[in-house]
Amino acid sequence: MPGLLLGDEAPNFEVDTTHGRIRFHDFLGDSWGILFSHPRDFTPVCTTELGRAAKLAPEFKKRNVKMIALSIDDVNDHLAWSKDINAYNGDEPTEKLPFPIIADAKRDLSIQLGMLDPDERDKDGMPLTARVVFVFGPDKKLKLSILYPATTGRNFDEILRVVDSLQLTAKNKVATPVDWKRGDRVMVIPSVPDDEAKKLFPEGIFTKELPSGKKYLRYTPQP
Ligand code: BEZ
Repeated sequence: MPGLLLGDEAPNFEVDTTHGRIRFHDFLGDSWGILFSHPRDFTPVCTTELGRAAKLAPEFKKRNVKMIALSIDDVNDHLAWSKDINAYNGDEPTEKLPFPIIADAKRDLSIQLGMLDPDERDKDGMPLTARVVFVFGPDKKLKLSILYPATTGRNFDEILRVVDSLQLTAKNKVATPVDWKRGDRVMVIPSVPDDEAKKLFPEGIFTKELPSGKKYLRYTPQP
């Protein structure tokens, strides 16, 4: 079965990109990484997504996350499309984006990573890539994956939000509740006993009373 599951190591593929040839592990170095795929160059939803990703690039950089996109066209198409993306953003229509786009014209990598959308096909009947997001940790292991069909654009603010959660929960024995955003209170994870939690979270723990009498809803300020 092609594809990647949480905890899998990123394959160390070698590919052509708009920033030259890369080996994926060298590209990632010791950073976090986000790899996001697109159905095709010169398509409307993808253009809005890449425009937003370019605008948010400084936010990903602040969080030490290397960005890389993928689309199933060649480097020349990607460079020409980049001009449109910059123009869409209201910027100079140059070929330069703040992240590389992988050229996967033969779909080799899309197949290996399980990215194809069987419901969306090109004029030759070949499947297009879905909107996949993979977030890799500094250990190059998959920490999060999101899979949207080609017809539904992603929310890149949400991707930044989940990066904040992933980075926080990688360092602390906490989890982030529904709709959490940076600075909100967090939850102590169930495997931490109360006496350990008191030591780990000196700012205090608030436990919400529940009809079951079970004391599992434990909040603490964001460490
Ligand atoms: C788009 O990016 O607009 C798109 C691409 C493939 C199928 C549907 C929409």
